[in-house]
Amino acid sequence: MATRPVVLLGDPVLRQEAREVEELDEGVRTLVRDLFETMDHEEGVGLAAPQVGVPLRVIVVDPRLEDDPEGGRIALVNPRIVEHSKARERGREGCLSIPGVDEMVERAVGITVEAMDLEGNPLELRAEGFPARVLQHEIDHLDGILYIDRISPLARDLVLKRYRRLREEEGGKG
Ligand code: NI
Repeated sequence: MATRPVVLLGDPVLRQEAREVEELDEGVRTLVRDLFETMDHEEGVGLAAPQVGVPLRVIVVDPRLEDDPEGGRIALVNPRIVEHSKARERGREGCLSIPGVDEMVERAVGITVEAMDLEGNPLELRAEGFPARVLQHEIDHLDGILYIDRISPLARDLVLKRYRRLREEEGGKG
């Protein structure tokens, strides 16, 4: 197991359509272990394979639900949202690939996701509220979509300005 460096906004891998996983081989299992370790290390609640430079349709999520004995921690292979609720709500989102900034993003309140688990078994899960938000955010990454694409142009300009200023300040520290 190892952490892998998280790629940042501007890396083309974040903007490409990730490929479906066709075989659950040792490479994919190692990828999933590394995604969990990297997510924990970065204190994130979700991570998609393209964020560590691997353009495959694999995500891990850990929305840290206190009422869920399993902790809600799962890896999904080839996840697909098959149903969105009509109801939508706004909530704050950040992204490990755009560190230091966040913004309110409108998402479906509830979704149904079909995917495979690490043994290759098909699974369907229904999520609402924060876990549904995390899943939508991570599955977007597999299509090259970032949360800043889902906010108004004005909000996006402000987020990007804040982000660039932060990066410059960090660079200035040497
Ligand atoms: Ni993200």
